Amino acid sequence: GVDTLMRIPPSVLKLHNKKEDAWTAINGKVYNITPYLPYHPGGEKELMRVAGRDGTKLFSLTHAWVNADFMLDACLVGFLVPEQSS
Ligand code: HEM
Repeated sequence: GVDTLMRIPPSVLKLHNKKEDAWTAINGKVYNITPYLPYHPGGEKELMRVAGRDGTKLFSLTHAWVNADFMLDACLVGFLVPEQSS
């Protein structure tokens, strides 16, 4: 549930940029895309372009009609938040 979801700043998102540990953010939500890689109709290489970063723009440029929120619901890790300033 919502209680178990994380607040993830860009610096943490950035660490998850490997095929076996790939996260991306779409519209403020962070998803683990590793399990989806073999199933992406556009291929692994294309999907990996958004690994470790905010993929919102690239995602909407390639297929704005795809509902990532619905598709990746089971892969939701948490929410993208601004970097903490100290
Ligand atoms: C196709 C999902 C990220 C490039 C598709 C399709 C889905 C999908 C469902 C089929 C769409 C259709 O046939 O109408 C996703 C999800 C993504 C993601 C859930 C993010 C988590 C990306 C990214 C790129 C990309 C970042 C490019 C940099 C493509 C391309 C196709 C495609 C080129 C067309 C493949 C073809 O029909 O030959 N994607 N995608 N996708 N995707 Fe993605």
